[in-house]
Amino acid sequence: MKKIAMVASEVAHYCKTGGLADVVYALSDALGKLGDEVMVVLPFYASMKEKYIPLSTKIGVYDVYMSWRKEEAHVFLYQDKHFKAYLIANDYYFQRDNLYGYNDDGERFAFFSLAAKQLFRFLNYKPDVVHVHDWQAAMIPCLFKEGPRFDDFYDGIKTVLTIHNPAFKGMIDRFFLNDFYGLRDELFDTGKVRFEGMVSTLKSGIVYSDVVTTVSPNHAAELLTPMGSQGLSGVLNLRRDDFVGILNGIDVEEWNPAKDKKIAKKYSTKNIEEGRHLNQADLIKSFNIGYYGGPVFGLVSRLTYQKGIDIVLPAIRSALSRGASFVVLGSGEHHLEQGFENLRREYPSTVGIYIGYNDDLAHKVYAGSDFFLMPSLFEPCGIGQMIAQRYGSLPLVRYTGGLRDTVCGYDGHNADAATGLGFYDYGVDALKGTIDQALDVYHDQKLYYALALNAMKLDHSWKKSAATYQKLYEKILSRP
Ligand code: GLC
Repeated sequence: MKKIAMVASEVAHYCKTGGLADVVYALSDALGKLGDEVMVVLPFYASMKEKYIPLSTKIGVYDVYMSWRKEEAHVFLYQDKHFKAYLIANDYYFQRDNLYGYNDDGERFAFFSLAAKQLFRFLNYKPDVVHVHDWQAAMIPCLFKEGPRFDDFYDGIKTVLTIHNPAFKGMIDRFFLNDFYGLRDELFDTGKVRFEGMVSTLKSGIVYSDVVTTVSPNHAAELLTPMGSQGLSGVLNLRRDDFVGILNGIDVEEWNPAKDKKIAKKYSTKNIEEGRHLNQADLIKSFNIGYYGGPVFGLVSRLTYQKGIDIVLPAIRSALSRGASFVVLGSGEHHLEQGFENLRREYPSTVGIYIGYNDDLAHKVYAGSDFFLMPSLFEPCGIGQMIAQRYGSLPLVRYTGGLRDTVCGYDGHNADAATGLGFYDYGVDALKGTIDQALDVYHDQKLYYALALNAMKLDHSWKKSAATYQKLYEKILSRP
């Protein structure tokens, strides 16, 4: 049994804007089930208060110094199924409408990282491994090693950084290295935490963690090449012996068509056709559109450039004029939301849109769409494609990052193995070509269901990945 502390800015069931939250929850839960002693440290955002104040216990308050500022961290403990959640409250930083998007985000997560570090001392609890996620917590390994030297409490704690999204680097002005984090300018001058003339908390995490991971093997390979690395290949190559890609899983309890209470008809591989027909009818009704004999394409995503939404808009039109329908669930960049509104105006009876997030509706899209669109520009792992496969909706992806690790595309000859469709070159034409291929597959229903069954039979549970993380922890713990 090992003592593992996860530190992250979002954790599913507490607060979530993306896949990071799902992974932190599911991995912590899986490790707890395997017998590790797991704690998860996260901010106590305004949106969590109503639910978690009554459910948690306030265990104390301590001061967090950010050079000249003194801020209080109020700590609440909630016992989750297989881990302890420590919620860090501070009204000045976290009592706001959203998780991120403020011009002081750099300062807010500096506070969070410092507070998380201090929490271990406050609890007088020394984890074996502190596992931090993305830029918001990535400074912690550096704080352990470069923080004030009078304090040896943190010596010997091993650290892991997982990169979920390399596009967000936690860029702050060099001045704040000292002003927020109380760290020496020298760390900037020597280049250890410097990135493009600023301080990058993510880069600092890459430099100071005992081991760095990302969320799929293919994305790990991409991050080591200048093209696919978002500028991180230089520093990652220096750490290449301690850098691995470990494929995410999904929560196979929550996403299980055989037990899903949120869909119209539960189904498994045994009654896939009946199940999917009924769910499709329900999906069409939920989005208030009609059915014209073609496949239903689904999309559940943050609507941002990363997800390839800009190529979806022009590429889907020809399918719509050939009888296909299209349902979209998500929110994000204004011009993309607007683009979908325009598309709906053009095709009011076959395009359905829900701007925002709605969990019940997401389940219905997975269970009722024939194809699930994920033509991402880059995608460290991707979760939607794995959920779609579990529900027998064929993912249509661009082969980037984890999409390439998880989707075996149909090539005309591999009906016994294919679990989706895909293309390589990012662009409207390639996506359009693959959508055309999807229409062909759909019109050969025997083929369609052969692929859908292959997809449903894949094992996307966390078991294997959690065991891989455990081995990684063991490996770094055996180092001096
Ligand atoms: C980020 C990535 C996504 C990944 C998720 C969980 O949201 O963009 O690809 O699946 O993190 O690791």
